[in-house]
Amino acid sequence: MGEAAQAAEPRYPPRAGTDRSGCLDIVGAVLATNGEDTGKQALTFDDAGAEWALPVDEVHVWRASLEWPAETVRGMRHVLAPDERRRADRFRFERDRSRYTVGRALLRGLLARYLKTAPEELQFQYGEFRKPALRSGPWFNLSHSGPIALYAFSATGQIGIDVELDDANFARERLAERFFSPAEVSVLRSLPADVQPRAFLICWTRKEAFIKARGDGLSLALDSFDVTLAPDTPAALLRTAWCRDEARRWRLEDLSDRQGGYVAAVAMRGYGWRVVERQIMDTLEGNVPGQERR
Ligand SMILES: CC(C)(COP(=O)(O)OP(=O)(O)OC[C@H]1O[C@@H](n2cnc3c(N)ncnc32)[C@H](O)[C@@H]1OP(=O)(O)O)[C@@H](O)C(=O)NCCC(=O)NCCS
Repeated sequence: MGEAAQAAEPRYPPRAGTDRSGCLDIVGAVLATNGEDTGKQALTFDDAGAEWALPVDEVHVWRASLEWPAETVRGMRHVLAPDERRRADRFRFERDRSRYTVGRALLRGLLARYLKTAPEELQFQYGEFRKPALRSGPWFNLSHSGPIALYAFSATGQIGIDVELDDANFARERLAERFFSPAEVSVLRSLPADVQPRAFLICWTRKEAFIKARGDGLSLALDSFDVTLAPDTPAALLRTAWCRDEARRWRLEDLSDRQGGYVAAVAMRGYGWRVVERQIMDTLEGNVPGQERR
């Protein structure tokens, strides 16, 4: 999504209903000044005894802020692989470099906890369209928009997640006619005008979550499948052009948070799973007032 979508920069309010027992407190993102050892301390988690199991019937969704103090980000850089550091260095603006670094460092930190290994030990493999994965699992996907990142983890299958800041300017552009299927455009334009921007983002994130689960990137024609999009309708894949039965093999779940200022969705094949939402808290900045650890 373009720069316009990144104009709104919500802080990071606690989400009503978040399972607080799943909060992860990052208390010691140690500053790396020199020496190789410091990298090993760059992500120190205090998870307050949280369970790091990933049951087959759960999809874990973690929320995090990508805005961290510069010295913390320098420490996080040490857990990145050389290719990730090179990619970070290619960003023109410091803010983007920093957000990418934090996004990857937190991804590594979370995966390392699930796998009981060190973040810097993880070796990502990349699919044909650059979807990162781990040979040993778990399946995971991440999405970022402005200062917000969402991570999804599953023990059972390919997963996709997408988040977009709730930005009416972006949604007002007539991108729907370019990207959405005729059925989706028809539903969108039948909605009251003031509802359409949010419905647009709902549709966008559901479509992106689906193509990200498949790992297809832009190789999949975005108008070759339909999703639900009217606000307050359950998230669902309705139809695919390539297989009559495909739609009912997938489940989509809405993860939008009005208070947090974003629209989001997660997609995974199969049924019988539920979303467990968790949140990474940055106690260094103290920017999540009122959050309690259990
Ligand atoms: C892969 C793709 C889907 C990412 O979408 P995005 O909204 O730009 O970015 P997100 O923040 O949601 O996701 C980016 C992350 O997804 C992961 N990713 C990269 N390629 C991926 C792929 N092919 N499939 C799934 N995940 C992928 C990466 O972890 C990446 O983050 P990182 O490199 O910083 O670690 C994008 O490259 C793409 O092809 N988009 C389609 C664009 C479009 O026309 N959408 C219209 C929808 S209606």
